[in-house]
Parts: sequence; structure tokens; C-alpha cells
Amino acid sequence: MMQKIGVAVLGATGTVGQKVVALLAQDPHFYVAELTGSASREGKPYGSTIDWRDDLSFPEEVRTLICKSPLDIESPYIISALPADEALKIEPMLAQKGHIVVSNASAFRMDPKVPLLVPEINAHHLDLLYSQETQGKLITNPNCVVAIASLGLAPFLKLGSIKHIHMVTLQAASGAGYPGVPSLDLLGNTIPYIAGEEDKIPQELRKIFGDPIHPMDLKVSVQVNRVPVRHGHMASIQLTYEKAVHVEEALEVLQDSSYKNIIKVHKDPTRPQAALDLKPNEMRVHIGRVSQGEDAHILRFVVLGHNLVRGAAGAAIENLRAYLSFIND
Ligand SMILES: NC(=O)c1ccc[n+]([C@@H]2O[C@H](COP(=O)([O-])OP(=O)(O)OC[C@H]3O[C@@H](n4cnc5c(N)ncnc54)[C@H](OP(=O)(O)O)[C@@H]3O)[C@@H](O)[C@H]2O)c1
Repeated sequence: MMQKIGVAVLGATGTVGQKVVALLAQDPHFYVAELTGSASREGKPYGSTIDWRDDLSFPEEVRTLICKSPLDIESPYIISALPADEALKIEPMLAQKGHIVVSNASAFRMDPKVPLLVPEINAHHLDLLYSQETQGKLITNPNCVVAIASLGLAPFLKLGSIKHIHMVTLQAASGAGYPGVPSLDLLGNTIPYIAGEEDKIPQELRKIFGDPIHPMDLKVSVQVNRVPVRHGHMASIQLTYEKAVHVEEALEVLQDSSYKNIIKVHKDPTRPQAALDLKPNEMRVHIGRVSQGEDAHILRFVVLGHNLVRGAAGAAIENLRAYLSFIND
């Protein structure tokens, strides 16, 4: 049997960090070797300091692991779920020390030497690692809604050149971490603002779909909303093409075998729904409502994904897997 690879998890007590721990415990290739929380938890056993909130069950094998300081980590491979300001300080130090750091944080996503990786779309961006001068390397995954929307968009971008993407997002409460948005602000309500999000989404999409050096020339307009859904980000997307494109062509490209394990297409007009379609380890994105717009140049669809899995923890684990296959090729 293949020996599993040990991974250190930074920010393992947070919303994303707990999901990383839970998913690594189910993974055939990796296990949790070390972990960190904030400084107040250092020296404490993970099992006694953690307030476990993830929908996946607590993996008993991590109970006695002692929370470390990030700079005491010894494992070569690290998944970071640190807040961006901490990531900005700590991740480059760890790369300098020779670690491979796969980060969920936004701190280095737009750095031209750092891959903003969705392996199913832009695995070739790992070539950027050759431009990083440190012994270790830094790889990032996109913002949670970008990770989901980019996978939904990928097949549609194959249908022809796009004049304009317009996207309206409905983003779950857990996207803001824990405790996140106060319950009295969000329950029975929709908040049409998430700080910084409407700028990040177009920039990150352009980087993901560009070549490693040059962002793609994509015109993207975004409006974001925080909605009282526990987990699951949805994006309603309208694409205006240069030429006429029909629903049948879109449905055909979505059937491509390369999307089999990544995208689930729904024909039921009431789907996808976060409450019905997202399992707590759901890596697939769900596409529905593929329809023609007001003229033959416009297609519309919705895409839904688990923000903590496909949008964060699961994405980082796939990035580590992609890195290992890149260096072993
Ligand atoms: N939530 C999402 O859907 C999502 C999706 C994609 C990316 N991200 C990104 O992933 C990262 C984590 O997000 P989250 O939602 O998991 O946040 P969170 O629930 O607030 O968790 C933050 C984690 O970082 C630790 N931490 C906080 N301050 C620290 C410090 N000064 N030094 C060291 N560790 C510190 C916390 O430890 P304690 O528990 O000890 O405080 C906790 O483990 C963020 O960069 C976020 O932008 C989040």
C-alpha cells in the first residue's frame, strides 16, 4: 500500500482549517501531521482546544496532536487557512525555509509569480513556480466563489469568444468564517455587499483563464450578496458572446467526459439547491438553468458549489495533489 504523505495545517481551528483536517482524514494520499491555531492555543492538544463545528465528523487521530507555532512546523507540505494579514507575514517565511505552502488566503493570489490554481483549468500555471526564488514554493487557490464560478464557466468559454460576463452571487454565511456575519444581521435577510469581493472576482477570473503571465482579456461585471444559507455559494451568470450560441451546444460541451467528476448538470428547473445538492465533502460544482437570453448571443446558467470544500479546503488539497504530480512528471 502507498505510504501517506504528512501535511501540516495552519489555522486548523478555523472554519476552513477544520474542513481541511476533516478532508485530509478521508484522503487516500495524505494525513494531518501537524497543525496550528492562533498563539493562545500553542502547546495545547488539538482535541481539547478545538470547538469542532464541521459537518464531517471529528477525526480521532488528530485529537492528541499538539497545536504548534507556524514557524515550528517541520512537514515539507503545508496547507494554510490563515487570515490574509497573517498569511502575508508567515507564508513567505515558510517558503523561505523550504516548505511547499498551499494557501487559501488572498494575500498572494495576484502575485505574478504565484499560481492561482484550479488544476482542472490551469495546471500549466504551476510553471510559475520556476520564477519563485525561494527553496520552498507558494501556491494559492482562488476566492471561494471564484473557485466555483471558474469551474462553471470553463465549458462555456469553449463555445466562443465572450464580450461580457455578468454575474450575481448568493454567498453562504460560512464564507465569512466563524462567527462571521452577526445572526441578527443575516437571518431572514440578504445583504447586497461583501467587502472587496466585487473587485477580487474579475481580477482572479482573468488570472485563472489567462496564460501564466498575461491575464485573459475578460470583461466581467459582478454583484455580490450574502444570503442566510449555511454552506454553498451560488452564482447566476449571463454570458454575452461575439457570435450566436445555442443552449444545445452548451449542454453538449457540458457532457464532455473531462467534466464527469467535476460538474453535475441539473435539468430540473428548481435545482441546484444548497440544501439538497451539497454533501459536506462535495467537490463537484452543480450547474442548472442553462437557458438562452434575450437574443441568440446570450446564454445564462447558475452554478453552485460548497464554499468550504470546492471553494477552499478541498481546492487546496487538490492543489497539493497537482503540485506533487507536477514535480513527479
Ligand atoms: N470561509 C470560506 O469560505 C473561505 C473560502 C476561501 C478562502 N478563505 C480564506 O481562508 C482563510 C481562513 O478563513 P476561515 O473562514 O477559516 O477563518 P476563521 O474561521 O476566522 O479561522 C481563522 C484561523 O486562523 C487562526 N488565526 C487567527 N488569527 C491568527 C493569528 N494572528 N496567528 C495565527 N493564526 C491565527 C485562527 O485560530 P483561532 O481559532 O485560534 O483563533 C483560525 O484557526 C482566510 O484567509 C479566508 O479568507 C475562506
